[in-house]
Amino acid sequence: MSRIKPSKEEIQRVKDATEQIIRRINEKAREYGIPARAICVGSVARNTWIRGEEDIDIFILFPEEFSEEELRSEGLRLAKSVASEYEERYASHPYIHAFFEFPVGKNEEEKRVEADLVPCFAVRSASAIKSAVDRTPFHNDYLKERIKGLEDDVLLLKQFLRALDIYGSELKTMGFSGYLCELLILHYGSFINLLKEASHWKFGTRIDIEKHGTYKSEGKEPLIVIDPVDPKRNVAAALSTFAFCRFIDAARSFLRKPSQRFFFTEAEEAEMSKEAFLRKVKERGTDFVMLVFDAPPVVDDILFPQLRKAAISVRKLIERNEFVVFRHDFGAEGGKAFLLFEVFGELPAIQRREGPPVTVKVHAERFKRKHLALNHIVRIDENGRLFAEFERKYRSVVELLSDKRNLLGCSLGKHVSEAIESGYKVLKNEEIEFFEGIGKFFKRYFSSTVSNDV
Ligand code: CTP
Ligand code: MG
Repeated sequence: MSRIKPSKEEIQRVKDATEQIIRRINEKAREYGIPARAICVGSVARNTWIRGEEDIDIFILFPEEFSEEELRSEGLRLAKSVASEYEERYASHPYIHAFFEFPVGKNEEEKRVEADLVPCFAVRSASAIKSAVDRTPFHNDYLKERIKGLEDDVLLLKQFLRALDIYGSELKTMGFSGYLCELLILHYGSFINLLKEASHWKFGTRIDIEKHGTYKSEGKEPLIVIDPVDPKRNVAAALSTFAFCRFIDAARSFLRKPSQRFFFTEAEEAEMSKEAFLRKVKERGTDFVMLVFDAPPVVDDILFPQLRKAAISVRKLIERNEFVVFRHDFGAEGGKAFLLFEVFGELPAIQRREGPPVTVKVHAERFKRKHLALNHIVRIDENGRLFAEFERKYRSVVELLSDKRNLLGCSLGKHVSEAIESGYKVLKNEEIEFFEGIGKFFKRYFSSTVSNDV
């Protein structure tokens, strides 16, 4: 527990810094004559951040009567005015990631504090929001008192999920958000109890803490956790079926044999060398084909859904051309984005196309006429059906993907499509370049996603 729970000093330092930032924002607001006030939300407000991972979320509330434009310009002006340095970032709304230098903390590093400063509207209720971020203060009000006494259980859950790589609701991870973790602990009462229940979860499990009962699912979500403050919203909407199932599997294993290693993955080598990769390729007897291009300059929440969609679409293209795809994956590292396909070898020079039974006159004659006109061989099989034999256009996945027209016929997503349009490479096995981050990617690709205890 001491490895994941913030120390007394850390709590003090973070709380002090948060208070000072809030005070500065409120002072500046008065100075500028802006009717806004700052509050602390998220894990820092509820003492549920993981040791050393503090993430100060400060929301600046504006009157509902403000326009989107006023919120944006005044909110960002206010946020910028208090920071020593800042970066303008963008989620569903623009916000400021600010850096501060404070005289708290023992060393230089501890003096430097970072915080997200997010302008939002102070709406009357969470179901009357004007933008997605307006809900957050309501989450805070709902959980602040209720989560008291359960903080350690929230931390255990967050760390358990981090070790499994399924913490965070960003579209890259599609895992469990911090708010979802807190609601699950609140609902089931403890970390262990949650694991016990989760080990029996079925697809479509529904949790409705406030018994709103109104949420209508389209049946595509593995888990439905109705937002206590907004009955129309599923807090687990971004959770993938993969993350849902990985959690269930790990919960079962943990209950069978509890161990610290579920929280702290051993410090084994995190990177795979190119030599080790090539040994794996040889062992498996498959071919690894990678389509690499310059990562389009958009945030992960936009890029990753497009890569996911593109990978599935290109996989279908490969399969339509009769290659077998064993697995596929995708990623973005070191300024590059890529789609990866693990495929089975090469195909023969000829291809076969099935036709209708000879006894179905119209269709049989049409099939025969078409293929004979193309100089194909047409035969009758043992069941009386026609089939044609002809020369195959692409004998390898590399050839298939190297033809740009084939790719541009896939649904790739706007930015991925543009990036591929302006150039890409198709690399196989030893040709795959081990650029920054790729060793880590392959390490994960080859590691198992289930727990070893059965
Ligand atoms: N939030 C949300 N939906 C999301 C992401 C965030 O409603 N997909 C809201 C939640 O109210 C959350 C707050 O924004 O508590 C802050 O988000 P974040 O920093 O991502 O999560 P924390 O709960 O603060 O958890 P941690 O920082 O420890 O990861
Ligand atoms: Mg946070």
